[in-house]
Amino acid sequence: MLNITYTERIVTYYENKVSKKYYIKTFGCQMNVYDSQRIAGILQSLGYQEASSQPNADIVIFNTCHIREKAAEKVFSDLGRALLIKNERKEQGKDTIIGVCGCVVQAEDEQIAKRAPFVDFATGPLTYHRLPEILAKIARKKGISVIDTEFPPESKFDFLPQNQSESACSYLAIQEGCNNFCTYCVVPYTRGVEYSRPIAEILQEAERLIDTGSLELNLLGQNVNSYHGEDEQGKERNLAYLLHRLSELDGLKRLRYTTSYPADMTDDLIACHKDIPQLMPYLHLPIQSGSNSVLKAMNRRHTKDDYLQIIDKLYQANPNIGMSSDFIVGFPGETDRDFQDTLDVVNKVKYIQAFSFKYSKRPGTPAAVMPHQIEEKVKKERLEILQNLLFDYQDKFNRACIGKVMPVLFENKGRHSGQLIGRTPYMQNLHAELPKENLNKIINIKITDATTNSLSGKAV
Ligand code: SAH
Ligand code: SF4
Ligand code: F3S
Repeated sequence: MLNITYTERIVTYYENKVSKKYYIKTFGCQMNVYDSQRIAGILQSLGYQEASSQPNADIVIFNTCHIREKAAEKVFSDLGRALLIKNERKEQGKDTIIGVCGCVVQAEDEQIAKRAPFVDFATGPLTYHRLPEILAKIARKKGISVIDTEFPPESKFDFLPQNQSESACSYLAIQEGCNNFCTYCVVPYTRGVEYSRPIAEILQEAERLIDTGSLELNLLGQNVNSYHGEDEQGKERNLAYLLHRLSELDGLKRLRYTTSYPADMTDDLIACHKDIPQLMPYLHLPIQSGSNSVLKAMNRRHTKDDYLQIIDKLYQANPNIGMSSDFIVGFPGETDRDFQDTLDVVNKVKYIQAFSFKYSKRPGTPAAVMPHQIEEKVKKERLEILQNLLFDYQDKFNRACIGKVMPVLFENKGRHSGQLIGRTPYMQNLHAELPKENLNKIINIKITDATTNSLSGKAV
């Protein structure tokens, strides 16, 4: 017995010594977080282990986002730093592979080759399942760089190792790509046309995630409510159907889906918010602008009134629902009057949380060459006014939670010892003094305090 343990210890020690390490830095949306987890899965299947920091890694991957100029530019400064680390490691006799994945690669592969020629490989968001081949090529022929930005005929999901997420809240990609072509947005160009995974494949991944401890699943897609995957009989099904099927799985306590497109909020999907108890009372439904003329110029298929009617229906389906949205200020041609319409929507919907951005010109999108681009100063002023209003509503909602009891799913340890951090049904962060045995569990918590960004409470 002793001997075996000793041998095992030697083997583990030896493996640790020879095994290579990876480091992944993720930018952008939840889909990129999901993709990074899957990239980690591929690397683990090749024998890599996670590195504690970038300088310890034999392979460094940046999973990038192209949605706004700032996000895309950040990658190039990170790549500059990665080269310095690569050179330092070289002096210690260690090789480093630097890779770039994600939406910047799809949009700017030539820029990467020009501005960061030391990058060993670059693959778009739809081709990272080919990583084993890419790494094999690099190993065979040192010094080459591989760029793969094809929109492949195969689905990457058919080639990925099983989703190994062992956390209580897991992302599950059910749809990818977008056919909406909002005039400001790069996503249809970086993620391609809409693709929906078949129902059976999603149920299988969901069951596996529940088996390994997931209590909450967050279904992901760039335009998740246009989901139209095939069921086991080859019949096309929508998101409402999929939610009902998932709600029948034993052990699944919470369901969410993101991101939604208002024109695709069908009545049967809205009814799910009444009929499916696991569906959390929180919905991220981006409107972008409250002005009909701006919405038209954005090529959004909804008006302000359509949107407010959908919200009414949602409140009827579940009066406790809390809304969230994305907003863009300073879209080309946006007048003060248009901006007031946006503020009006905020005052009507009273969002419990929201994201807001200054319009950012994206190369190749129609809005980038529209006339009447808005000055930076005006964008900044409008953003500040909008964010102050949004924070007010968020703050009011959080403070109104004081005294209530909410089921909280604890996912992480807090900064102070004895503290855990969890999420309420409304996606609020909550801190509580709790023993660590409560991690990955749902506990009823009485809210005792609130700020704009988080809550605290005590177990009841
Ligand atoms: N598919 C989602 C969101 C995709 S991107 C949807 O349709 O809502 C996330 C958010 O980034 C968008 O909702 C939008 O508010 C913002 N965004 C996208 N392109 C932008 C741009 N060019 N400038 C500023 N914000 C942008
Ligand atoms: Fe972009 Fe519009 Fe598609 Fe959302 S719906 S991903 S904003 S094109
Ligand atoms: Fe960014 Fe691509 Fe997501 S551009 S927001 S990472 S789909």
